[in-house]
Amino acid sequence: MKKIEKIVFATGNKDKVREINEILEGFSIPVYTMKEAGVNVEIIEDGKSFEENSLKKARTVWEVSGGLVLADDSGLEVDALGGEPGIYSSRYMGEDTSYHVKNKNIIDRLEGVGDEKRTARFVCAVAAVFPDGSEKVVRGVMEGRIGYAEQGENGFGYDPIFILPKYGKTTSELPAEVKNEESHRGKALRAMRKEIEKYENTDSQ
Ligand code: IMP
Repeated sequence: MKKIEKIVFATGNKDKVREINEILEGFSIPVYTMKEAGVNVEIIEDGKSFEENSLKKARTVWEVSGGLVLADDSGLEVDALGGEPGIYSSRYMGEDTSYHVKNKNIIDRLEGVGDEKRTARFVCAVAAVFPDGSEKVVRGVMEGRIGYAEQGENGFGYDPIFILPKYGKTTSELPAEVKNEESHRGKALRAMRKEIEKYENTDSQ
């Protein structure tokens, strides 16, 4: 049994931290942000996939903090746009551009594209570097399609244009508990939670 006392989550994005805390609520291990853990390092996201980027973030923080470090990398893939914005989702049209503008731009680029070709997905990779230096990456996906206008007030980022077919609503119109149940981040974090429990239950050498 290898007891883990705390998790440092390698992100500075407060919307993601809020969702991570909601999803991991009830998990016995407390989760700290980099800021709360006093870790201040620059993370360069130059990987070619969600997995590479999440692992890079986790490794960079782990070098400083040790312990168990988690990191995620996520984004929206729109099929009719060849998978854009993908790993560039937060940098799409510039980091400081509002999501209202980014969302409108995606809708404009899909002009004339019918329902069946508006398929899209949110992807989230969560990487862990464990106290002994071993690593694990898991992926969660939520399939949906792009709407014709922004709808809803909840969530963040591209949520107002992402329709979850099962509910016929955008993830911005759904309550947080429902989004977290269905979401790419919820699925990946629950899979990672199992990996952490597995790690704790392996015998130490
Ligand atoms: P990251 O911080 O590099 O992982 O970038 C993630 C970006 O993908 C966010 O800034 C959003 O633009 C987008 N994104 C990821 N997950 C979600 C979500 O659950 N809702 C809306 N947008 C998301």
